Amino acid sequence: MKKASFLSSLFVAATLTVSAQESATITLNTDKAEQIIPKEIYGQFAEHLGSCIYGGLWVGEDSSIPNINGYRTDVFNALKELKVPVLRWPGGCFADEYHWMDGIGPKENRPKMVNNNWGGTIEDNSFGTHEFLNLCEMLGCEPYISGNVGSGTVEELAKWVEYMTSDGDSPMARLRRQNGRDKAWKVKYLGVGNESWGCGGNMRAEYYSDLYRRYSTYCRDYDDNKLYKIASGATDYDWNWTKVLMENSKDLMQGISLHYYTVSGWVGSKGSATEFNHDDFYWTMGKCREIEDVIVKHCKIMDQYDPEKKVALLLDEWGTWWDVEPGTIPGHLYQQNTLRDAFVASLSLDIFHKYTDRLKMANIAQIVNVLQSMILTKEDKMLLTPTYHVFKMYGVHQEATYIPIELDCKIMNLEGERNQMREELIDYPVLRTLPMVSATASKNAEGKIHISLSNIDLENELEVTINLGDVKATKAVGEILTSAKIDDYNTFENPNLVKPAAFDEVKVKKGVLKVKLPAKSIVTLQLQ
Ligand code: AHR
Repeated sequence: MKKASFLSSLFVAATLTVSAQESATITLNTDKAEQIIPKEIYGQFAEHLGSCIYGGLWVGEDSSIPNINGYRTDVFNALKELKVPVLRWPGGCFADEYHWMDGIGPKENRPKMVNNNWGGTIEDNSFGTHEFLNLCEMLGCEPYISGNVGSGTVEELAKWVEYMTSDGDSPMARLRRQNGRDKAWKVKYLGVGNESWGCGGNMRAEYYSDLYRRYSTYCRDYDDNKLYKIASGATDYDWNWTKVLMENSKDLMQGISLHYYTVSGWVGSKGSATEFNHDDFYWTMGKCREIEDVIVKHCKIMDQYDPEKKVALLLDEWGTWWDVEPGTIPGHLYQQNTLRDAFVASLSLDIFHKYTDRLKMANIAQIVNVLQSMILTKEDKMLLTPTYHVFKMYGVHQEATYIPIELDCKIMNLEGERNQMREELIDYPVLRTLPMVSATASKNAEGKIHISLSNIDLENELEVTINLGDVKATKAVGEILTSAKIDDYNTFENPNLVKPAAFDEVKVKKGVLKVKLPAKSIVTLQLQ
């Protein structure tokens, strides 16, 4: 599914040099707080892939697993708690082979298909448009439909939009009513293709940008439904894709997507999700933080064509990508989730908050049982991953005003052949310095300030001094996510090994907060 490839098996350990400072200082710049963090930065992605839909979100009404109209009760309740703001579906690569009409009407009449992208699994189409849009309504989240451009027609996509959103006496609205849904759904986000440079049709940017113009023309706004149309954007370091799309089609789009995975390689092993050493950990943190550079560079290209920032950048796939869990089907991308994954989540979210003048959505891949998921299921059992806990702890930042910060902390130098090899293959200077602390802050509608801190140092506790400026606070309360080992994870036998706990290692005195941040910990505080 990816372009860049290199032999991760040839990696050698990086040399890690850490300077001696054991403290960090943060200053909140409340006077520069302007930008609202869109709730969509906390978006999710659900693809017909492995057991994300079937067995993860959906078991069907007749299942012995407790369900609400076919949706797993345990998973549904956990997602409701998470306040999922937007859910992207049905792919991913699957979207460009998905024919929506196969997924409507009586279930017994729905044709089966082969899921060619993901292990050749037979897809029975029992989870289709109604099942998805009803789930979004129940969760109270915005649906994000990813349309088929690779193997579908303009007519097919245009009719799908009409089926979902037209309330008039139109042919597709009548068909929807025959299938049991009277009122149109509200659908805001519409992706016009996915990874059109790869699994979505192997197109060149010039060709796709014309196709985008054609397909998007016929996706109409019915009644009071207003579509927010998203062009299939670049992956990682493909600056040219963004440039060509902006040049040719910016006037017809509200957003352009970007995909970036924290992955060590695309050929051979991507590395184990659970077995890694300290070098691997720090290297992963570096690769994760490189997303900042990638966002900045794509934004700069967009600025050239759209200085008024009318077109948004939507990071609609991101997260970790490891080797599949031993013993599982390779094409199903089922992976475990350790405290390391939790740091990829916290560091990434800290970065996303900084760029919300252009970055309006981010969808972690994927919601259940696939890649860096929130939830893992096995038959009737369910567990919450460390990544779920980060999303829950960070929920306080949704729709709050971002407070820019200054951060001074110790820096690790990342040296070694691993970076040199990557550099040669991607033809891009990779990040060689790694701050050991990451942080973000925001102020919500009630005026409450929340600060999130990550100490990625695997050995040392840090004393963090936070200068509050003109913010008045007498105490701070919060939660911490940590564990004895960085490779700890939750299992069905021990589902609560990694979970948040109350945190009170904080002192406030004369506008200064002192926080004792344990090694390998993530903390979110509320000032009071
Ligand atoms: O998230 C898994 C896959 O990664 C998606 O289907 C595709 O868009 C990307 O390559």
